[in-house]
Amino acid sequence: MPLARYTAVALCWLGMSTAITFENVEDTFDTLRAWYNSSTGLWMPSAGWWNSANCLTMLANLATIDGTVKDRTKDLWQEVFTKAPTFNAQMTKTIGAHWRRELPSKLYLTDEIEEDATKFGFFNGFYDDEGWWALAWIAVYDLTHEQRYLDEAIRVFDDMHAAYNTTPVGGIWWNKDKTYVNAITNELHFSAAAHLANRCASQDAQHFITIAQDSWNWFYGSGMINDYNNVKDGVMATDPTGINMPIVWSYNQGVILAALTELSHATSQSLYITIAHTIADAALSNLTAINNEENPNLVLHDPCEPNCGIDGAQFKGIFARNLAHLHSVAPEDRYAEFLMKNAEALWQYGRDEFNRFGEVWSGPFAEPAGASPQCSGMDLLVGALAQLGEWEGNGTYIGGKVLSQGDEGRDGQGWDTVSGEFESSSARSPPVAGMAGRSKRGFFGSW
Ligand SMILES: *[C@@H]1O[C@H](CO)[C@@H](O)[C@H](O)[C@H]1NC(C)=O
Ligand SMILES: *[C@@H]1O[C@H](CO)[C@@H](O)[C@H](O)[C@H]1NC(C)=O
Ligand SMILES: *[C@@H]1O[C@H](CO)[C@@H](O)[C@H](O)[C@H]1NC(C)=O
Repeated sequence: MPLARYTAVALCWLGMSTAITFENVEDTFDTLRAWYNSSTGLWMPSAGWWNSANCLTMLANLATIDGTVKDRTKDLWQEVFTKAPTFNAQMTKTIGAHWRRELPSKLYLTDEIEEDATKFGFFNGFYDDEGWWALAWIAVYDLTHEQRYLDEAIRVFDDMHAAYNTTPVGGIWWNKDKTYVNAITNELHFSAAAHLANRCASQDAQHFITIAQDSWNWFYGSGMINDYNNVKDGVMATDPTGINMPIVWSYNQGVILAALTELSHATSQSLYITIAHTIADAALSNLTAINNEENPNLVLHDPCEPNCGIDGAQFKGIFARNLAHLHSVAPEDRYAEFLMKNAEALWQYGRDEFNRFGEVWSGPFAEPAGASPQCSGMDLLVGALAQLGEWEGNGTYIGGKVLSQGDEGRDGQGWDTVSGEFESSSARSPPVAGMAGRSKRGFFGSW
């Protein structure tokens, strides 16, 4: 069923509406700047600690494909690197809606680290938060090629990995309080190891490959993946209050995709790509309305909409970023189409006149705006734009600006809320650079 739907929609490609441009994403970048707090190096208080790591990742990816943003962020990486740990050292973690609770991150640190903010770094009481920061510094390393960022990613990863295989069911705990064994933390452990395997010298690469393979093998057999190839939220909780283990969140379907893609590259085994395609397709089947005859479109939704809170509003962008990563190495027309259709829907219907994004990508825009839905939506735009261009053999990204067709505005053609289809009124060129001639590489990585 899903395949038939994809084919039908693909035939309509030429009739699609507004194309997303680099100018669009630069406008949303301007908006995001208002939520950046330069005294802390974080996008707080409108987003949280872990969200800020995701904003940083998204911006490093954007800067890789957009020279204007690259110029304007050239001092950002260093500022976050030095200021965020200082703030971390004095922060009482505020936990967002749905499934977290308040805990002072200080509880989990030794006195020695507490006295010295630079040692405090990007550690806290949550191994998933550490994983987000590890991936953020890897993305910044990919952009800047500065070794200190890779070193920091390794340092943070090592703290996570020290907790590997210490739960009653294997894998890694969500938190240092040992209350939950969940998917996201273990996916981040796997993904960070697989990324590091492709970025470290060969003797270290084997170390990280071994960890990544162990992590994946455990994950695969852990019960995290349900009968429909959807990744569940978790498998074991010491206190299940407020935890919904079977629920299917978009970000849990996402992080695993780049992890498998990186591991495939590190090991030259295509099986991992095959598995990633299976999980990606299962996610599109469960989390878009492609199976829903009354609303037959490709727009991604999380089960928490429209009240996802600061945490949940981040999820979909993470899925889009990781799907784009898989797509950059193992492209499928249906993923290109998914990214473009979602970006177009968000741009036309999920945005307000100040270029702020809401959390529901099919719209309508609704408060609260903030760095969490903003970075999430920008992740989607970056994923959509990245696959329009081409990578030179020397690692230079070309083509995005050339290919954009200009913003045709928000009125005129648009999303038909009755049929859920895009109305076609102005033809636009397909992404002529296409996927076929492009050299394979990690999303923005150096390999
Ligand atoms: C920046 O963060 C600090 C520390 O939390 C806070 O006191 C300050 O109000 C924030 N500034 C803005 C503009 O939000
Ligand atoms: C998505 O998965 C959840 C959990 O397994 C299930 O309850 C729901 O019916 C699925 N939705 C679709 C559209 O497949
Ligand atoms: C990469 O190649 C392109 C075109 O072939 C060239 O314009 C660009 O300067 C090169 N970049 C680097 C960093 O060598």
